[in-house]
Amino acid sequence: MPTASFAPSTRIVVFTGAGVSAESGLATFRGVGGLWADFDPVTLATPEAFAREPKRVWDWYASRYVGVRDSEPNAAHRAIARLEASFPSLLVVTQNIDRMHQRSGSRRVLELHGNIWTARCNACGREVDMASLIDLTDPTADSPRCGCGGRMRPSVVWFGERLPMGVFEEAAEAASDCRLLLVVGTSATVYPAAGLIELAAQNGAFVVEVNREATPLSHLADRSYRDLAGDVLPRLVTRIERRLAEDREAQLRDLFGDEP
Ligand code: APR
Repeated sequence: MPTASFAPSTRIVVFTGAGVSAESGLATFRGVGGLWADFDPVTLATPEAFAREPKRVWDWYASRYVGVRDSEPNAAHRAIARLEASFPSLLVVTQNIDRMHQRSGSRRVLELHGNIWTARCNACGREVDMASLIDLTDPTADSPRCGCGGRMRPSVVWFGERLPMGVFEEAAEAASDCRLLLVVGTSATVYPAAGLIELAAQNGAFVVEVNREATPLSHLADRSYRDLAGDVLPRLVTRIERRLAEDREAQLRDLFGDEP
């Protein structure tokens, strides 16, 4: 990428998946140790499963919520938040429901698949904090009910459900308009989210992939780092910050180098 066009105003989108939170101790979905290796997503992450077995589905998400609550952002999340300091228009588009990006200081975050920190009534849509509903003291208790009688469910997007209104559209606009797309820790197999990578590549973005394994969309990457996000991203961000500082210095010298 020509240095001249790389400046604080450069439009950057960071697209993340479960792999960016793996080093926080949170399981990914696919691959070695992935959740879907032990659990069938059809019986846990669909509205049909919730209708059939609300308690089983609720308890599973309640235990995942506790896991997320008790985990901390890692070096990859922090590096992405740091990058935003140099690029104010940077946008994080995540498939993750853990809010680790926000917890590590990222301000502009689009959640494509909802979040596990809130729950909403399946009937009236009332939304509350998950924390207020978590009662692990009585494992026999039924899944929580809303005052209207409806069942409370996690505010995540289940398979077969629409993404939150307008969120994908906003992400697609940013992806098709960005200069640099950083793709971190996603298997790029779930659509429409993975389509953002194709959209950015089609529109001329420089695509950088950070994933310890290749994915079906790795061929779209201009540069791939086959390593852990927590190792690669801090180094990449330091290199970018250093280059911006050098460019700024060079511009100033160029501007004020000789007699007016
Ligand atoms: N650093 C970089 N990449 C990693 C790391 C790491 N530390 N650990 C794992 N990965 C990579 C894996 O190689 C894999 O390609 O992260 C990817 C995780 O892929 P998935 O588990 O499929 O997660 P994701 O792509 O986010 O899944 C998409 O599927 O199940 C649904 O709704 C769920 O949002 C999720 C969606």
